[in-house]
Amino acid sequence: MTLADSTQSQLSQRLSSPGSSSQIRPEVAALQGDLVNWRRHLHQHPELGFREELTSAFVARKLTEWGLEVQTGVAKTGVVALVRGERPGRTLAIRADMDALPIQEENEVPYRSQHDGVMHACGHDGHTAIALGTAYYLSQNRHLFNGQVKFLFQPAEEGPGGAQPMIEAGVLRNPEVDAIIGLHLWNNLPLGTVGVRTGPFMAAVEVFECTLSGKGGHGAMPHQTIDSIVLGAQIVNALQTIVARNVDPLEAAVVTVGEFHAGTAHNVIAGSAYLSGTVRYFKPELAELISHRFREVVEGVCASQGARAKLDYRRIYPPVVNHPEIADLIRRNATAVVDTPAGIVPECQTMGGEDMAFFLQEVPGCYFFLGSANEARQLSYPHHHPRFDFDETALAMGVEIFTRCVSDFLS
Ligand code: NI
Repeated sequence: MTLADSTQSQLSQRLSSPGSSSQIRPEVAALQGDLVNWRRHLHQHPELGFREELTSAFVARKLTEWGLEVQTGVAKTGVVALVRGERPGRTLAIRADMDALPIQEENEVPYRSQHDGVMHACGHDGHTAIALGTAYYLSQNRHLFNGQVKFLFQPAEEGPGGAQPMIEAGVLRNPEVDAIIGLHLWNNLPLGTVGVRTGPFMAAVEVFECTLSGKGGHGAMPHQTIDSIVLGAQIVNALQTIVARNVDPLEAAVVTVGEFHAGTAHNVIAGSAYLSGTVRYFKPELAELISHRFREVVEGVCASQGARAKLDYRRIYPPVVNHPEIADLIRRNATAVVDTPAGIVPECQTMGGEDMAFFLQEVPGCYFFLGSANEARQLSYPHHHPRFDFDETALAMGVEIFTRCVSDFLS
């Protein structure tokens, strides 16, 4: 029995198990073998952001074979494909990210990465396979929807971000996209659950770099210096008061200093220091407050000691904010694949970020998590871990949710 076969039989077991309320249609379940093969092929050939050449060629070849209208080279390595229903109507976009991470895989599986130092450690291989399966199913079942479904296979989600360049390339026009949906396989949730939430779902991502300039000198003669380590330490502490004292305690925000480099010897007072880190929050209104306070704290502490700071504060991704109607669409249709009504996890939220946020700023949409962890099969390592892997049973579940959403939204 090959691994693909064993996953297939696990899916059928799951579909027929008495406790499971799963309603995966047989014609979707029948795609499981292909889904696993595509996912494993992609897993073996991972590529970093904006270098998804093999990946996008593979995706484009399949989509063309199935008769979709395919556009390649969108925002460098992105692929856009359109499948039309039998009658005219609205347009629903489905987004999948295709990029991998600069991580050396430690899994000993037959489908392990063949590219040294690069790994699909976040599940984007699965996202691409699910979107492919959905495209195939819809190409064979055009009578199930009106209007069209536009597939956005996006590069570089892990950075520097492929969503924004795709929007600039016009992927939301011709035809105009009415709504957009997308999913992330999620090992923080068990298989058979779906995390979906109206409103803020994932955090805004901001990054700062700060170089402090004091005055170096002898470790025994601090009065002749401006100590950049003392300065930096005060800034690290003072920055924590932004969340503790400036942000409304009923809101969520994070200020993390991830790097603090200074000094060269035990008896030398450091003349400069370097800090970098990240800021996260959900509510778009916090953008101004936090960045403004951040600058005040850095400049204020520096001024108190006659030091200077060079601050580079960058907005990377806005928060992922789900539209109530499209979140309802996901909720309604995800009930088909969850084990029990409790399988829909409504309070699901993370301080992680996603450039799906840019699409959601343009059109109403919803991004959600599809539970993919399976403790019993040791498939529960966190995302971005060198042993990350997920339960591939989730692949058919993803196709089931997407295709149901299409019939529902485009009926
Ligand atoms: Ni990811």
